[in-house]
Amino acid sequence: MKKIYLIGFMGSGKSAIGRRLSYSLKIPYYDMDQEIVKKMGMSIPEIFATYGETFFRQQEHEFLKTFRDEWCIISTGGGVAVNPSNRKHMRKTGLVLFLDATFSDIWKRIHRDVNRPIVQSSTREELEALYSFRKRHYKAAKHITIKTEGRSLRQITEYAAFQFHRLKTNN
Ligand code: S3P
Repeated sequence: MKKIYLIGFMGSGKSAIGRRLSYSLKIPYYDMDQEIVKKMGMSIPEIFATYGETFFRQQEHEFLKTFRDEWCIISTGGGVAVNPSNRKHMRKTGLVLFLDATFSDIWKRIHRDVNRPIVQSSTREELEALYSFRKRHYKAAKHITIKTEGRSLRQITEYAAFQFHRLKTNN
C-alpha cells in the first residue's frame, strides 16, 4: 500500500482534506483533475467541450494506472470510482477513503460552480440522481467511510490520519 485515495462526489471536500492530510502526514498531495489539466494544458470545461466526457474518463483511468509509484495522497474526480477497473486499481495500490457528504451540503457548495461541466449541464434533480447512483460505487471502492456532516475540516482530517496510522500499524 503506497497511496491514499480520497473518493466521493463533487464538493465532498476531497481536495480540502487532501491538502490538510498531506500537511499532517507529511506525504505529498496530488489533485487528479489538476494533473490532467496540467498535462492537457486545458481547463476541465475545455477538455469536456473539446474532446467529450469519454475522453476525460480515459485520461482519469490513464492517470491512475501510470502515476508515479511513491507514497502520496491523491484526490480523485467524482466520477473515478464508477469504473470497476479504477476501483480495483485503487484498492490494490492504496487506502481508499470515501468522504460521505449529504447531498444538501454538496449542493450548497457546488451549484454555482462554472468549473464543473456536469454541474453546468444538470438540474438539481439530475445531480441528486447521479449522487445516489454513484454512492454504491463509492461504497464498493472504499476501505473506510468518513461521514462529513457536522464535522469540521480539522476533525475529518484527524479522523482520516487516525485511520491511516491504524491500518499502517496493522499491515
Ligand atoms: C466530475 C468531478 C470533477 C471533475 C469533473 C467531473 C464528476 O472533480 O473530475 O468535473 O464527474 O463528478 P471533483 O469531484 O473534484 O469536483
